[in-house]
Amino acid sequence: MQGFSPAADNNKSAILSILSHYLSVGDHVFEIGSGSGQHAIHMSASLPEIQWQPSDRAINLPTLSSNILEYGPPNLRPPIELDLDKPSRAIPSAVQCVYAANVMHIVREALGAELISWAAERLDERGYLILYGPYRYAGEFTTESNKNFDEWLKKRDSESGIRDFEWVIKLAAERALTLVKDHAMPANNQCLVFQKTA
Ligand SMILES: C[S@@+](CC[C@H](N)C(=O)[O-])C[C@H]1O[C@@H](n2cnc3c(N)ncnc32)[C@H](O)[C@@H]1O
Repeated sequence: MQGFSPAADNNKSAILSILSHYLSVGDHVFEIGSGSGQHAIHMSASLPEIQWQPSDRAINLPTLSSNILEYGPPNLRPPIELDLDKPSRAIPSAVQCVYAANVMHIVREALGAELISWAAERLDERGYLILYGPYRYAGEFTTESNKNFDEWLKKRDSESGIRDFEWVIKLAAERALTLVKDHAMPANNQCLVFQKTA
């Protein structure tokens, strides 16, 4: 596996248990920022009745494509380019779930907002947006390790950083995405699950 991420390997089972709860037979999932493809491969292999569309920036596609070609099951589609900095409006509509793991704290705030808008436009009525990663609550980090992680992120890229839960909820609500559950996950992460309302 090229670009293997130990973190993605560690959290994939816990995330699968959340996704399985919200997905139904025949659903289409669109993943933003698929990285090495480890989540895409694990989730699609474990949920063969789901169609999974991975995506990432162009620079990441060669690694992602190669991993998917080698390890992906038939219900995992070849990855496509989706850069939140230049989001394509041509990408299929009416998916039942948009999933993004560890993307909101990597991209700058405006692109995090774009992710939520993009998802709101693409989701079917009652579809889910599922965001995995760490968040701050009432301006506080949930743990010292998340505070250190935020400092580390900002040293790499001053515009990245752990986002405020309240900011995400407000942006989502403005786009008719209602928080249905905030799942606490291992390693001080969260799975925020939003559902599109009419
Ligand atoms: C920390 S990695 C997470 C990868 C994978 N989802 C996981 O959880 O292991 C962040 C991902 O966001 C992607 N990314 C960064 N900037 C992006 C952008 N402008 N548009 C779309 N994806 C982006 C990166 O290429 C990378 O795959």
